[in-house]
Amino acid sequence: MALDRNSVPNDLNAFWMPFTANRQFKKAPRMFVAADGMYYTTSDGRQVLDGTAGLWCCNAGHRRPKIVEAIAKQAAELDYAPAFQMGHPKAFELANRIIEIAPDGMEHVFYTNSGSEAVETALKLAIAYHRARGEGTRTRLIGRERGYHGVNFGGISVGGIVNNRRVFGSLLAGVDHLPHTHLLEQNAFSRGQPEHGAHLADELERMVALHGADTIAAVIVEPMAGSTGVLMPPKGYLEKLRAITAKHGILLIFDEVITGFGRLGSAFAAQHYGVMPDLMTTAKGLTNGVIPMGAVLSTAAVHDAFMQGPEHMIELFHGYTYSGNPIASAAGLATLETYKEEGLFERAAALAPYWEEALHSLRGLPHVIDIRNMGLIGAVELQPIAGEPTKRAFQAFLNAYDKGILIRTTGDIIAMSPPLIIEKTEIDQLIGTLADVLKTLP
Ligand SMILES: Cc1ncc(COP(=O)(O)O)c(C=O)c1O
Repeated sequence: MALDRNSVPNDLNAFWMPFTANRQFKKAPRMFVAADGMYYTTSDGRQVLDGTAGLWCCNAGHRRPKIVEAIAKQAAELDYAPAFQMGHPKAFELANRIIEIAPDGMEHVFYTNSGSEAVETALKLAIAYHRARGEGTRTRLIGRERGYHGVNFGGISVGGIVNNRRVFGSLLAGVDHLPHTHLLEQNAFSRGQPEHGAHLADELERMVALHGADTIAAVIVEPMAGSTGVLMPPKGYLEKLRAITAKHGILLIFDEVITGFGRLGSAFAAQHYGVMPDLMTTAKGLTNGVIPMGAVLSTAAVHDAFMQGPEHMIELFHGYTYSGNPIASAAGLATLETYKEEGLFERAAALAPYWEEALHSLRGLPHVIDIRNMGLIGAVELQPIAGEPTKRAFQAFLNAYDKGILIRTTGDIIAMSPPLIIEKTEIDQLIGTLADVLKTLP
């Protein structure tokens, strides 16, 4: 691949890239140097259609004027304000705007800088909440197999993606995992929520019987599991989880880092599925991915449990130097305005049937063993090459990039989550190009 030496450094060695095959990449780098709307520009001057909204985060597309302006203006006006014992107006304003679009009952916002930090914050809040109410024995956390909750120690402990946890030692103690919900044999090629699997939520009752409800602080799940390869919740599954957690006084945390801000056609998955958690973690689409920012949304019940003791005392010994950073807050406000002005959540909902048809047109192509979709997210699962898992999908990713579309792969699953501004012709381009790629895969 010819590289433009003006825009690509000669030496790529120093940067140890995250979640990347570093040696492969550095032999044949894939560099983006600009982006606009639905397209990236590569260092060799090609246009690449963004089929993944960056990393599931640029929900309004790229280089959106309102967001660009807001960041520049804020940097020139108030660049930073201390996050502890001081405030600035935009952090409060943004929290109010988030609560306006959040499910009824969510009333407070705690800022972080990433999804991973939002998860750590939510897990800590859950444990400390029970203690504040005199139930300090509730410390156990329950996640789910194949769950992705970021990469920090709490998140990988409750998470269930094996490669993300197995080389990192003993992790948090007192964690258990529900079974994952990927029932390929029964549910392959489901459109939207699959029929089978609600009974898997009953495993929580078994864990309560095993450990005792009075030892369990919280259950954390992605309402729709993204990073593991886009797994929709089976019909009735989330409702059951909510009923069982409520029955036993266990908090339910929805990790909405991917599903938040319109991905499924509602502001949050909780609204899409009509199931209300106690805490929600968000990030990514909160600032359109432009400036790092995450947030935990909390009910009044959880928040209010901390508001006791002398008023001059800090109620929660937790926070980050950049919690509610002014530039991130400005980016968040401009992002939410863009979503609203352009009706992007509604747009995602309106486009979902077209997206579903396009995706499922790939059925029958070589190696395709499942296709899943919901809102503007979808996955195509491939039969792995015997003895060489992940290789087939990775090859698809490389070929797709060469043909001008950006997709994402995890294991042998291709995941797509385009910006919500995508046009039907661009859906055709994305899926049509992917079809060409699949037809020529070894
Ligand atoms: C559900 C979920 N939680 C947490 C995270 C971690 O977010 P971050 O990479 O911003 O730390 C992700 C990232 O993909 C995610 O999908």
